[in-house]
Amino acid sequence: MSRDTIVLAAYFVSSILFILGVKSMTHPDSARRGMQYAALGMAVAILGTLFLHDIITYKWIVIGLIAGSIIGYPLGMWVPMTAMPERIAISHTFGSLAAALVGIAEYYNAYHLTGATGVGHAEMAALGLEVLFGSLTVTGSFMACGKLQGFISERSVIYPYQNETNIGMFVIAVLMFLFLIIAPGAQVVFYAMTLLAVLLGVLMVLPIGGADMPVLLSLFNAYTGLAAAATGFALNNYVLIITGALDGASGFILSIAMSKAMNRSFTNVLFGAFGSATEGAVARSAEGLAVHPITVEDAALQLAYAREVIIVPGYGMAVAQCQHQVRELTDLIERRGGEVKFAIHPVAGRMPGHMNVLLAEVDIPYARLYGMEDINPEFPQADVALVIGANDVVNPAAKDEPGSPIYGMPILNVEDARSVIVLKRSMNKGFAGIENDLFYRDKTFMLFGDAKDSLGKLISEMKNA
Ligand code: TAP
Repeated sequence: MSRDTIVLAAYFVSSILFILGVKSMTHPDSARRGMQYAALGMAVAILGTLFLHDIITYKWIVIGLIAGSIIGYPLGMWVPMTAMPERIAISHTFGSLAAALVGIAEYYNAYHLTGATGVGHAEMAALGLEVLFGSLTVTGSFMACGKLQGFISERSVIYPYQNETNIGMFVIAVLMFLFLIIAPGAQVVFYAMTLLAVLLGVLMVLPIGGADMPVLLSLFNAYTGLAAAATGFALNNYVLIITGALDGASGFILSIAMSKAMNRSFTNVLFGAFGSATEGAVARSAEGLAVHPITVEDAALQLAYAREVIIVPGYGMAVAQCQHQVRELTDLIERRGGEVKFAIHPVAGRMPGHMNVLLAEVDIPYARLYGMEDINPEFPQADVALVIGANDVVNPAAKDEPGSPIYGMPILNVEDARSVIVLKRSMNKGFAGIENDLFYRDKTFMLFGDAKDSLGKLISEMKNA
């Protein structure tokens, strides 16, 4: 078998594995298998690439493989679930850096290698796209990672004519790109476009608050895919074209789905500077409303005698990392004859599937997790709705207050349950930065404290009951 045939066969097999991987990731039950297909696909693609004719020496490839494994292993094994968005952001930085550097190297070689004849128009289109979106994503994803991790302030940085400046710069970069397709030899324009894209990545992220970062991350995911697909065209590499297209399309679809679930338009996320801590706040405490704190003993009593309990997890469950305690409490309630269901809001937490992943970690079967449409009609029959670190996704302002920033966002109707117990540390607001009327209602009881702590106390109380 010739080397070319081996490479083609490897790329064919890996493309199928990547497609199977994405397909399997559409359901939590098969998601783990999907990751295994994708990992195998990547291994086959790398092995196939080693047979390429263009490789002169394996020295740098081996160094790259070792360095990549040394960086990749801790990233995969030790980064906690709560830091997954930052981890994804840094992966995009690496991916797009690779695409941008390949593009720059190809362009440089085309004009500086002896015997090279420059870049053709079609090739320039692919290279330009690769470098434009690759460079923009390198700095953009790095900034996003910094904001999420806290080494760059997560507050929105706003200044006059910001959107106009960013859009203007983007238009100039695109014009440079179009000019290069006509005149690929204009090297100064090529490097100027690259620098402009690098700067744009930083400026684009400045106005976006830390909490909106996941939407931006999936957009950068799409850009990385686009850059990878363009690299595939530039290098005539089919597997890169296919994976880049898969990555790009899924990134765009995810960004739009996330914006929709937050009841925000995509452009509003990008240009609205939402997510800054206090926007749209309505001060309920100033209206003289009071909350009803509950003791651990009373909360445990309610749960012990409840026939149906609906647990509503939110971002606070991820922060407290209390999924094991959630599992233990569920078992205890069930041992006493109660039924427990989980209500999962599509944007609970800070990334798609955040709650599902945490609950799957403690072996809560997927069949027991209910989406909004299925669980909302069940709340009136529930004796207790136990809200664990959720806030915005249970905020009735989404239905009752037309002026609220979350107005129109579909929410979980926990207020319909006979009793609502909320576990949170304080009266602090959630992601949207607005007050939650639910906490002040007559049948809502607040159990203040870190959710892990409160659940631990509830568990010991129920064991002794
Ligand atoms: P949030 O509205 O953010 O509320 C989380 C609550 O958890 C806070 O009020 C906080 O109150 C509490 N909390 C934090 N740490 C805690 C701890 N250790 N123990 C107990 N409570 C704790 O969360 P949500 O209801 O899940 O809503 C998610 C929000 O994020 C939505 O607005 C959504 O649009 C947005 N968002 C989601 C995504 C995705 S894809 N999921 C992406 C971007 C934005 P205390 O500080 O008082 O404890």
